[in-house]
Amino acid sequence: MRILVTGGTGYIGSHTVLTLLEAGHDVVVVDNLANSSQEALLRVGELAGREAAFVKADITDEQALDAVFDEHSPEAVIHFAGLKAVGESVTIPLDYYYNNVAGTIALLRSMDRHDVRSIVFSSSATVYGEHNPYPYVEKMEIGAMNPYGRTKEQIEDILSDLGASDSRWHIALLRYFNPVGAHPSGRIGEDPQGIPNNLMPFIAQVAVGRREKLMVFGGDYETPDGTCQRDFIHVVDLAEGHAAALRYLEDHAGVFRWNLGSGQGTSVLEMLRAFEAAVGSPIPFEIVARRAGDLPAFWADPSSALADLGWSTTRTVAQMCEDHWRWQKNNPMGYATA
Ligand SMILES: NC(=O)c1ccc[n+]([C@@H]2O[C@H](COP(=O)([O-])OP(=O)(O)OC[C@H]3O[C@@H](n4cnc5c(N)ncnc54)[C@H](O)[C@@H]3O)[C@@H](O)[C@H]2O)c1
Repeated sequence: MRILVTGGTGYIGSHTVLTLLEAGHDVVVVDNLANSSQEALLRVGELAGREAAFVKADITDEQALDAVFDEHSPEAVIHFAGLKAVGESVTIPLDYYYNNVAGTIALLRSMDRHDVRSIVFSSSATVYGEHNPYPYVEKMEIGAMNPYGRTKEQIEDILSDLGASDSRWHIALLRYFNPVGAHPSGRIGEDPQGIPNNLMPFIAQVAVGRREKLMVFGGDYETPDGTCQRDFIHVVDLAEGHAAALRYLEDHAGVFRWNLGSGQGTSVLEMLRAFEAAVGSPIPFEIVARRAGDLPAFWADPSSALADLGWSTTRTVAQMCEDHWRWQKNNPMGYATA
């Protein structure tokens, strides 16, 4: 298949492009490089032994998208492009709604004009809210708690309305839990700009000496060790989930929602200890005040993805840490070392 991947130079996108190339698909990536480096795609090409095409463009630019459809004739789209920092979305909500929601509308309009109606969308566990008991199940009523999460919820609504309006659309809404880890080669991985928002890149940057210590937000939650519990998923498992969703869409029209998670909660301190084991030395940390908006614990019920897609996670927390550490150790400054 020929597949357009928006946001394909980013963290999850680059791992997914590699999985797709390895499975024999042809890939064209559209990315504006707002939060990524083209170096990621060069390395993906080395690992796969063949390259993805790359177009530097913004998904809000319909003319640029039309040109990509005209030139590359993709048959399906995997849509990662988006801004993703919860805290930043509170400060600059218009940028988030414009980039994520308007960008997706532009993409869908361009797809429609080119008779391409198969799309896998990066949604998030963030669409669930504090009213949802966990494990989270796809059929629950959702209710995101911040602008970033609401962009995902709104895009899910738009895609659901589109699917209901026209039976030619094949739409997968993938709700990711907490992607971590890196490709086992250590050649590609997560390379956040500035101060990392997520736990694993923060731990990894402390371990490699770029930061002094890990701040653990809250040690007094009602969880077994007092720190938050999350559902961590190895990024290569996540990439394989996209390939499975794409296969499913080939012969299923309609709108489908799947949680992509492990179904297990792991606490911040458990993750820290697992990372220390991978590094082989202690990692300094300090427990500080809770962070506004953090839920104490949640994880996925991933049984629908197993039933429908035959997909489930196979990689352990230890592998997540070992692979993440290999990437960080070999690339202390991320792609900037290249
Ligand atoms: N990483 C996570 O924890 C997580 C969890 C749930 C959902 N998601 C979603 O998965 C997707 C990928 O996440 P990621 O972690 O790989 O993030 P990332 O920032 O590494 O990748 C996103 C990519 O999209 C590009 N991009 C952003 N806006 C664009 C635009 N207007 N036009 C073209 N390209 C644009 C960025 O340059 C970047 O390469 C995002 O939509 C994110 O919201 C991520």
